[in-house]
Amino acid sequence: MRIVVLTGAGISAESGVPTFRDSDGLWEGHRVEDVATPEAFERDPDTVLRFYDARRRAVASALPNPAHLALAELERAIGDDLLIVTQNVDDLHERAGTRRLVHMHGTLAHALCTACDAVSVIVDDLEGRPACPECASRALRPDVVWFGEMPYDLDRIERALVTADVFVSIGTSGNVYPAAGYVAFASALGARTVELNLVPSDAAVPFDEVRAGPASQVVPAWVSELRPDR
Ligand code: APR
Repeated sequence: MRIVVLTGAGISAESGVPTFRDSDGLWEGHRVEDVATPEAFERDPDTVLRFYDARRRAVASALPNPAHLALAELERAIGDDLLIVTQNVDDLHERAGTRRLVHMHGTLAHALCTACDAVSVIVDDLEGRPACPECASRALRPDVVWFGEMPYDLDRIERALVTADVFVSIGTSGNVYPAAGYVAFASALGARTVELNLVPSDAAVPFDEVRAGPASQVVPAWVSELRPDR
């Protein structure tokens, strides 16, 4: 059975990483267009770099929760039959042990050089303008996908969706495309679709099954019902 799992900010909420659109969400106090667009970076790079430096520090002190751990356990059981596609820029899936992972919105851990396009691991806060390890330009930005930019690895994700028997959406409000369209895509291609979320999202195409509850509970329960080790 081939499974594609899409995760969003809700899976990391219980690790203490704020979501975006809930009442105490991250965009509150920040207008998206002030921190998460290429135009914002051009206009006020200090504010944008400071925002992402702070997010990276916050994530560094967070720990994977039982939902991340259950998905890593599922991967250990079924290997290549599972692909996790995350919209999250935190590294909690990796730290839980997941290896087959697509960061479609990039990752806080990496910098992208606007001079030479090299991607590097961030060592020092970007607000201090560290040099690119490839070309030495002091032109690094966070390697995250901002509004108006193209998400990463769309071909790989679509290939996995085409052959998926099950598509599972975890902790995402379904507001941001193309990820928000994957339930319709997978469903049209014959996959069974499942949503695990604190509250059902208002997806344009209904899921075959919706389980409401905190990710730390509903995800391990769903994984254990699959009985992958039997
Ligand atoms: N368990 C499960 N789901 C939860 C939990 C929890 N403990 N807490 C919150 N949720 C759900 C909310 O009900 C909501 O549906 O997680 C979802 C979070 O939605 P958003 O804040 O919109 O986050 P997400 O869907 O990941 O946003 C998508 O938008 O802002 C951009 O690039 C950013 O990747 C992000 C994208």
